[in-house]
Amino acid sequence: MVTIITTSDAERKMLADAGYADPAINYYLEKKYMGYIENADQVSENVGSCGDTMKVYLKIDDNHLIKDVRYEITGCAGAISAAMAAVDLVKGKTIDEALKINDGDVFKVLENIPEKKHHCIQLAVKTMHKGLQEYRAEKVV
Ligand code: FES
Repeated sequence: MVTIITTSDAERKMLADAGYADPAINYYLEKKYMGYIENADQVSENVGSCGDTMKVYLKIDDNHLIKDVRYEITGCAGAISAAMAAVDLVKGKTIDEALKINDGDVFKVLENIPEKKHHCIQLAVKTMHKGLQEYRAEKVV
């Protein structure tokens, strides 16, 4: 009998073996906030210490609530899962609330990623904060 392992099953196993917990793996495989927002209110870019790049697209309503966020990422599984988790943490929040979200909050949502990937969480959070700060500076809110 031949057992077929799908790409996604194989990837899931590789990530689990590397130290990614289930929530982190799901965020990485689903990539639900990857892409861009046409007519975004703010687009900001950031480069991590590893040289990888993230671009964040923000949609913010008249009450300064974060309606939607998308990321474009040239980075690793850690970066992608962290960015997707960061979006779930800030959606529907005010700019002030979103600026308080830190690496530890994202790590809690992911439950675990390899230690060597913790700087990737930092890149996701820093990029989000940069976008919010640049939006605020331009719109004077
Ligand atoms: Fe560059 Fe993770 S974002 S190694």
